[in-house]
Amino acid sequence: MTNSTEINLVAEALKNGGLVAFPTETVYGLGADATSDTAVAKLFAAKGRPSFNPLISHVHAAETAFALGEFSAEAKKLAQAFWPGPLTVVVPRAARSPVSLLASAGLSSIALRVPNHPLALELLRAVDRPVVAPSANLSGRVSPTTAAHVKRGLGKKVAVILDGGPCSVGVESTVVSFMNERATLLRPGGLSRDDIEKVLGHELEIEADSAQPHSPGQMESHYAPHAFLRLDATAPHKGESYLGFGDHDHGPYTLSVRGDVVEAAANLFRMLHELDGLGVKTIAVAPIPHEGLGEAINDRLRRAAAPRPKT
Ligand code: TXA
Ligand code: MG
Repeated sequence: MTNSTEINLVAEALKNGGLVAFPTETVYGLGADATSDTAVAKLFAAKGRPSFNPLISHVHAAETAFALGEFSAEAKKLAQAFWPGPLTVVVPRAARSPVSLLASAGLSSIALRVPNHPLALELLRAVDRPVVAPSANLSGRVSPTTAAHVKRGLGKKVAVILDGGPCSVGVESTVVSFMNERATLLRPGGLSRDDIEKVLGHELEIEADSAQPHSPGQMESHYAPHAFLRLDATAPHKGESYLGFGDHDHGPYTLSVRGDVVEAAANLFRMLHELDGLGVKTIAVAPIPHEGLGEAINDRLRRAAAPRPKT
């Protein structure tokens, strides 16, 4: 039985940086406090993803979402028509957003959703801050639609599993982006394209085949700093800024003094943004061990260091 005492305990666990699995109408999510870099880094570590995928921030009311992103009239119209429900919208991040940059993998956008499940809504209300939640499975595995699936897939990696029975929709939310001039379908899901187009009064653009090679500058349309990156640098050259790790520690920016890859992941995007904001030409980056989240960090750094067209 899930009662309000249990919900409050789970909400506290989330606020303290814990990972909690909870039901939504689409699939079970593995939740973390979206405003905590550390909690989000822990979540990526638990999922075992070799790269940082941007995550959806879940909130309990549309009004809350409207404060976290910049909603166009169309984005608002869709949200009001389908929330709570299996719709995720991608919009520009609000200025001074409290959401961790790691949650959106350093992008200038944010994905938002109000799920339609009484337990999820009760939990989100109790937490009273955005909660990022990818599907509660290991990377590359099938999304869980019962608490038992979550337990089988994640086992001890998750402190608590809120059991809300089987998910009624059973597939992930439909993701629609408003980052371009026209609303674009990024992921088909539990809300049909027809239903969305009826409300919009026009067709959705379809994301170009993601298997197609992009030009290096737009690679995965992910954040790339303006500065050049020199990787595996044990010390800065003259004129370079340094992003350190462990023993390679020169100056104020060190991803993790104690050499912890989870802590490094938590700091990665924020520190890259901060260094980039200083207007330096080159950021030299310390070697990062290729283990655990180090794999995702190195993936991100390699992309950011890739040659790109001048803009
Ligand atoms: O139904 C769902 O959406 C479930 C439940 C738990 O809410 N969550 C889920 O999360 O499926 P996940 O992390 O497995 O999938 C998130 C999707 C990915 O396709 C990701 O690329 C996209 O949303 N996404 C998130 N933030 C984005 C952004 N800023 N720009 C573009 N795509 C984004
Ligand atoms: Mg997933």
